[in-house]
Amino acid sequence: MGQTASLQVDGKIYELPIVEGANGDRAIDISSLRRDADLITLDEGYCNTGSCRSAITYIDGEKGILCHRGIPIEELAEHSDFIETAFLIIYGHLPSESERDVFSELLTDNAALHTTMRRHYAAFPERAHPMAILSAMINALSAHDRPKIDPGDDATFEKYAANLMSKVRTIAAGSYKTSIGQPLIYPRSDLLYAENFLHMMFSVPYHEYELKPEMVKALDLFWLLHADHEQNCSTSTVRMVASGEANLYAACSAGVVALWGSRHGGANTGVIQMLQHMRREKISPEDFVRTVKDRSSSVRLMGFGHRVYRSVDPRARILKQAAEDLLAALDVVDPLLELAQELAEVALADDYFIERRLYPNVDFYSGIILRALGIPLNMFTVMFAIGRMPGWIANWREIHNNPKTRIYRPRQIYTGEVGRSWRPIEER
Ligand SMILES: CC(C)(COP(=O)(O)OP(=O)(O)OC[C@H]1O[C@@H](n2cnc3c(N)ncnc32)[C@H](O)[C@@H]1OP(=O)(O)O)[C@@H](O)C(=O)NCCC(=O)NCCS
Repeated sequence: MGQTASLQVDGKIYELPIVEGANGDRAIDISSLRRDADLITLDEGYCNTGSCRSAITYIDGEKGILCHRGIPIEELAEHSDFIETAFLIIYGHLPSESERDVFSELLTDNAALHTTMRRHYAAFPERAHPMAILSAMINALSAHDRPKIDPGDDATFEKYAANLMSKVRTIAAGSYKTSIGQPLIYPRSDLLYAENFLHMMFSVPYHEYELKPEMVKALDLFWLLHADHEQNCSTSTVRMVASGEANLYAACSAGVVALWGSRHGGANTGVIQMLQHMRREKISPEDFVRTVKDRSSSVRLMGFGHRVYRSVDPRARILKQAAEDLLAALDVVDPLLELAQELAEVALADDYFIERRLYPNVDFYSGIILRALGIPLNMFTVMFAIGRMPGWIANWREIHNNPKTRIYRPRQIYTGEVGRSWRPIEER
């Protein structure tokens, strides 16, 4: 046995193996603890639990490092694009020219929705949240396609993975069109991934949307920066569902739902709502930070803090610059960007945030970019979901192809009533 950690309980010592990751990160393997010592570990919120071994994404939260398949996010943001990064995340290597062409072709060929799928939109109420539509439509797609992929069957996997990645964007644009009472717009085979999305969102039958290169670039970067992020809430959900052998689409649909909440993907909407509220109510950054610090208020500074990062989220740094560049290129002044910058300055100088090591995360500046692209607020988390699809797909594949995968089944410490008996209703 290599290095071990000793645990002493009731006078008995248990030797637990120490597992080391590729970058030297270490974990105590407690998988035999229950068998040997009749003990489980308790870690509410999984703050200190490694749930799996994964070769996809690496984060060093102390140093603010994020790498996909070993490549730093800064390099990908500068040199790559969303589709190439998606391929890297899913398949583990940068695509050759022919691999890239095949992948792009599959995405293009699978962009359009079958007519039966299009009919589903009509069943949603007008006020349905686009995240509800997205998760339901991905599940409907699984009913339609019935994706059956045997472990290791790469050709079938490639087909369904590309189909899902391509259609998620068509479904999202379709949900927006339905919500505003406009007809669905067909994808065009001559447009690239981000271009096609903007076309399906904003073209109307009597007027083709004019694509602006700087907007296409910003959207592509937004998606690239959201493509994967290790074992977050939604990705862990996808792995959990995949471990029970649910199909690829069903697992990703569960990921969409997990992403929805305001502490996760919903935070990008929360940031803009917070900034709009401050402007409307004329609340200064200093006053807002005071409210956040007030224990009785339960108000959080949205877009700040992260479970893993204890320094700046590298994605936030890139998005801040991208937001500034986009607004400058479009010659647009967004008062919310100015307010966000002031708010960040005040928070970053405040002891409360310094002591807790709370910094801007990916959601702090992303909403400014989405606003500049004309994306409505209730679609922000959907935009995140489109971007996160490669990560979910890669994580599903990792679980699915691993012959050692066991169903995810955490334990608990029971704190409820004990020793009760059933009583007839008249005696209760
Ligand atoms: C991301 C987030 C959920 C991480 O949660 P977490 O790891 O469980 O962190 P905790 O809730 O344990 O926070 C640790 C401390 O910092 C405080 N804190 C964390 N994020 C905060 C925020 N955004 N605003 C104000 N206080 C915050 C907590 O109140 C807690 O304070 P305490 O120790 O005095 O009780 C949390 O930082 C958050 O809610 N951020 C805002 C939502 C957001 O931007 N989410 C997107 C993440 S990418």
